[in-house]
Amino acid sequence: MSIIIKTASEIEKMRIAGRLTADVLDMIAEHIVPGITTDELDQICHDYIVNVQQAIPAPLDYRGFPKSICTSVNQQVCHGIPSDKRLKKGDIVNIDITVIKDDYHGDSSKMFGIGVISQPAQRLINVTREALFLGIEQVKPGCTLGDIGHAIQTHAEANYYSVVEEYCGHGIGKSFHEDPQVLHYGKPNTGVVLEEGMILTIEPMLNIGKRHVKVLGDKWTVVTKDRSLSAQWEHTILVTPTSYEILTLRQEER
Ligand code: MF3
Ligand code: CO
Ligand code: CO
Repeated sequence: MSIIIKTASEIEKMRIAGRLTADVLDMIAEHIVPGITTDELDQICHDYIVNVQQAIPAPLDYRGFPKSICTSVNQQVCHGIPSDKRLKKGDIVNIDITVIKDDYHGDSSKMFGIGVISQPAQRLINVTREALFLGIEQVKPGCTLGDIGHAIQTHAEANYYSVVEEYCGHGIGKSFHEDPQVLHYGKPNTGVVLEEGMILTIEPMLNIGKRHVKVLGDKWTVVTKDRSLSAQWEHTILVTPTSYEILTLRQEER
């Protein structure tokens, strides 16, 4: 395993890629309404990234992925493929955006509710976001990946949710997925020790039911085996000299 420590000029490019990624999530928010298809959301994001940002949507053709964004609805955990299916009131959807600008990647995802959503769905969304931030708040030089995973797992399980184990966060930079793998469960003081200049994503997936997942016949869409609702939030994080910087912070979070 070799973790790439980013130089100051690489960090500057990652800040730009991160900002563009956040901007896509800010831009798409008003379009996520009952009746829109996930294909339409994909098209709007694609055109914005390519024409306005003059950037590249990383998922398109990534290992054969057919679209520019991932849209994971309800029991879909991650890597959902946009389609002609319409979003309806009460659905929850994760929109996962990865933008390449000047060779560097930004990666972030957020949950949206369509119209009024159920209380259990809203609670899952809230707790998953809290788990992401509890993980992020661990980040500083000297902390371990186990510390991050433990913070996330503890919050999930205290709320009677399960943590998906098959998919994880990752280093990110010139490549979409770099070392290390960032597990969303673990034990304090174990695993890789973080150093200034590392950049990684944290992207916990929490299920209302059991943690087990399967991949659909399309080879991409990951769903919960028990069909329970799943939520995910993701940010790209820089390890700074004393703590962390969230490179994909959205307007509402700044
Ligand atoms: N954006 C996802 C992640 O957070 C990866 C999606 S891969 C794709 O790592 F091919 F489905 F786009
Ligand atoms: Co990611
Ligand atoms: Co992502």
